[in-house]
Amino acid sequence: MTQAPGAEPAPAVSALRDAVAAAEDALRAAGCDSPRLDAELLVADAAGLDRSALVTDPERGLAPSAARVAMESVRRRVAREPVAYILGRRGFRRLWLTVDRRALIPRPESELLVEITAELAPGRGRVHDVGTGCGAIALALADERPDLVVTASDASADAAALARDNAAALGLAVDVTVEPDLPRRIAEAADREEVDLVVANLPYVREADWSRLAPEITRYEPRAALVAGADGLDAIRALLAATPRGTLVALEHAPDQGAAVRAMLEGAETRPDLAGRERATVGRAR
Ligand SMILES: C[S@@+](CC[C@H](N)C(=O)[O-])C[C@H]1O[C@@H](n2cnc3c(N)ncnc32)[C@H](O)[C@@H]1O
Repeated sequence: MTQAPGAEPAPAVSALRDAVAAAEDALRAAGCDSPRLDAELLVADAAGLDRSALVTDPERGLAPSAARVAMESVRRRVAREPVAYILGRRGFRRLWLTVDRRALIPRPESELLVEITAELAPGRGRVHDVGTGCGAIALALADERPDLVVTASDASADAAALARDNAAALGLAVDVTVEPDLPRRIAEAADREEVDLVVANLPYVREADWSRLAPEITRYEPRAALVAGADGLDAIRALLAATPRGTLVALEHAPDQGAAVRAMLEGAETRPDLAGRERATVGRAR
């Protein structure tokens, strides 16, 4: 067939099955960890379908416009952009959160902090989520424990703006503030007895480990959301130094930081994540 001069060739309508296979090949060649899963998520999203449609209706055609969206998504993933940033959303507990490069993508292991806090916060208690990022922990708590008064803060104005957007979109009442001086804010709030429990997934990666992390992290996620000094504990230390004695604190940390974090707290207890690694410690500020 003759094509009009200057016109772009229309991509052929391909079956979902073929689109996924082509995407999977490209992602495997790029070194992605889970090429099949990522290919399915990106193609299904481009087609506006649930991922289950790839199994139930694999011969279904992918319209040219959807194929173009899928190709662009695959191109971004080949450059190792995380799937959550490409799709613009991430599931956390019962919520779908908008995510973008303003804040860290919430990790499944951080759901443990929600479990611990939901279990330990007193009825109608006041909980403050420090370093809230996109708001994941604070919003999940507000959703699961509607009796609590949940507030949140972040040193990053960009992250706080994203958390506010998520709170508004989900209709959850969480007041989010920007707190460049975290220790002062915590000290003041706890002094005024405004907070019963402080929950925090602060940065805990060691400086020296940053360059060894996956390109998905080092190329796309905010470094300030992850790195905290030589031993990775600078942010946690600063928080605890400012938190009045006796305040209940729940902290996420790396599996090999459990002993160090326990030593900073009174009556500390560490709980494992789903992989059985020490991941979150709760105790009272000394
Ligand atoms: C590891 S991310 C976690 C984000 C979110 N809590 C989650 O679980 O997805 C740490 C967050 O703490 C914030 N942060 C880092 N240092 C901080 C500080 N000194 N005071 C307040 N927030 C801080 C970062 O901007 C980032 O959003």
